[in-house]
Amino acid sequence: MNAAMPDAIRQVTHRDNVGLSKDGSAVVIIDQTRLPGETVYLTLRSPEDMTDAIVQLKVRGAPAIGIFAAYCLSCLAGQIPSTVYSAFLSAFRKYKAALAATRPTAVNLSWALNRMEQTVLDHSDKSIAELCRLLQQEAIHIHDEDAAMCKAISEKGLTLVQDGDGILTHCNAGPLATSRYGTALGPILLGTERGLHFKVFAGETRPLLQGARLTTYELSRAGVEVTLICDNMASSVMKKGWIQACFVGCDRIAANGDTANKIGTSGLAVLARYYGIPFYVLGPTSTIDRACETGDAIEIELRAPEEIRELYFRTPIALPEVACYNPAFDVTDHELITGIVTEKGICRPPYTQSIAALF
Ligand code: MRU
Repeated sequence: MNAAMPDAIRQVTHRDNVGLSKDGSAVVIIDQTRLPGETVYLTLRSPEDMTDAIVQLKVRGAPAIGIFAAYCLSCLAGQIPSTVYSAFLSAFRKYKAALAATRPTAVNLSWALNRMEQTVLDHSDKSIAELCRLLQQEAIHIHDEDAAMCKAISEKGLTLVQDGDGILTHCNAGPLATSRYGTALGPILLGTERGLHFKVFAGETRPLLQGARLTTYELSRAGVEVTLICDNMASSVMKKGWIQACFVGCDRIAANGDTANKIGTSGLAVLARYYGIPFYVLGPTSTIDRACETGDAIEIELRAPEEIRELYFRTPIALPEVACYNPAFDVTDHELITGIVTEKGICRPPYTQSIAALF
């Protein structure tokens, strides 16, 4: 099925991965698990459907999860029957806690949820109807700010590469995972718009194949030359001299620069160091968690073993009883990162100082 983008979402957000329905009572997302084969939009109203959408990666990518969760709270606030502030706040906090519990690693989720809660706390004198209006406005602000941050990151990242460069990326940190340009894919998409030509290598990103399914889809649609490789081929293309820079996204950056991103990222950073290739992390300052001193404090999401044993295969590929270890993310040591590109500037080592200087 190829569904056209519903008018409702287009009218509210002018973007196509996450948005509010026209009447503000539902969140509309593109189901990322169905891409690239089918473009299916889902209209979500219940808290269960919303939390499931995050857990099942129908909506995914750190910034997109934050934006989505903000829209969810805006919709759910409208469903709270109480007109008494204290009862409203307590119901709002239950919804917030359910959304926060979906995925632990991307800090953008709690960041956006906390901003929404702060809106409620800052306006305790307002009517519930007015609070709901303010919550919708705040969610749209979060979305608009992310688009602006992605554009700024793209501009800054573009200064790090030259026309004709080969760029290796991992997972998906493009428009589907954010707003507009994306983070790691932002400089590539912006540069392409300006007539530059990059040769992008996208790792398939086992086990859920975000690179194969989403990154190649986004880049091809934008006219970028992209080559899909299996994750275990990165060393080989680096050795051939085909890669001049690695661009990856991030789910949480600790105060010392240690960076959690999709599982497999840290291995690429080790390889890049060996082959003398600069390794850049690109992300908004909303992904920096200064309360996390180092990567050791970052909680890594563990996902279901079925994702390794059977997902995407016609029949299960492993014995049903085989033990699986399925962490969704890993932490790249700050010593392996050449620069962290944010909307406010590019941080260089020592990161403890350069990150603190951003704030
Ligand atoms: O499990 P996912 O698909 O949500 O993982 C996403 C990533 O690891 C991205 O690189 C990260 O969230 C940055 S998206 C701009």
